[in-house]
Amino acid sequence: MAVVIACVNHKGGCSRTTTAVNLASSLALGSDGYGIQSRKVLLVDMDPKGNVATTFGVDKRSVGPTMNELFSRGVGDNSLKLEDCLLGPDLLTRSMKAAWKKNNPDKARGPPKNIGVRNLWILPADLDLSGIEVDLATRVGRENRLKLALSEAVEKFDVIIIDTPASLGLLTVNSLCAADWILIPIQAEFYALEGMGQLISSIREVQKSVNPGLGLLGILMTMVQSRSKLCETVTEHARKHFGDRVFDSQIPRSVAIAEAPLEGAPIVIAQKPSKSNPASQSYWEFAREADGRIRAITES
Ligand SMILES: Nc1ncnc2c1ncn2[C@@H]1O[C@H](COP(=O)(O)OP(=O)(O)O)[C@@H](O)[C@H]1O
Ligand SMILES: [Mg+2]
Repeated sequence: MAVVIACVNHKGGCSRTTTAVNLASSLALGSDGYGIQSRKVLLVDMDPKGNVATTFGVDKRSVGPTMNELFSRGVGDNSLKLEDCLLGPDLLTRSMKAAWKKNNPDKARGPPKNIGVRNLWILPADLDLSGIEVDLATRVGRENRLKLALSEAVEKFDVIIIDTPASLGLLTVNSLCAADWILIPIQAEFYALEGMGQLISSIREVQKSVNPGLGLLGILMTMVQSRSKLCETVTEHARKHFGDRVFDSQIPRSVAIAEAPLEGAPIVIAQKPSKSNPASQSYWEFAREADGRIRAITES
């Protein structure tokens, strides 16, 4: 059975997608250096913005049925299979290489060997998903649609990571109902903790009503500026609230991370982790920590 993790924070632009995509990629790739065993990973996009596919250089216009079609199926409708909506590692590798070529037209040698992935499947989203949210509001069992849509996947994958939109609406509630664990990226800035109360009460409500087993996998501080007093203060506050659930690894604010989608590959794939690539290194270190927590779950 897969460990299902929802990457949640209704605050926009706090690195939800970046974190979901890089964690999914590193767990799927695995790494001897970081002691991460390669796992079969499904990355689910629940945000109508559909950024997950774009991060891998996939042209959204070229994808077939998406989250949208899968999600709108009623109970008992088996007309569409999960496999029909998934984009697999070969396609992702091809699109990352194509994106690299497009962005580096003057480099004759072609994309480096590390541009590619294995063991990773994505379930893309598209804009119509926001219409689904409106439509869902009046349906019976509206909170459990995603869980139902993923029921096959839970048996086929080791880890499922869900990227959520910047709201606490039905798409996020569906993600919280389908997940076993929550991962919260927090941008290290002044207002970051202000919305936390709202998020925590949504989580509590879901725990009380639909999903009592939902736990907190951890809190990841993102866009951290070194030597910033403010970042330190926000991290301290987070530690006071969430204790050791706050990951030791932190993600720095980095142009390389912001530019990685331009290159058509997540930073953990685009750059080898090393002292000269601290941004990639930081996401790999985070992956090692997250991997440890996931192993603790699966082994208990
Ligand atoms: N650590 C970082 N340093 C610099 N820019 C970042 C970092 N993480 C994300 N970004 C950029 O910030 C923007 C928002 O990130 P994203 O992951 O899309 O957030 P969300 O999914 O929470 O809206 C994107 O343009 C992304 O490339
Ligand atoms: Mg996003």
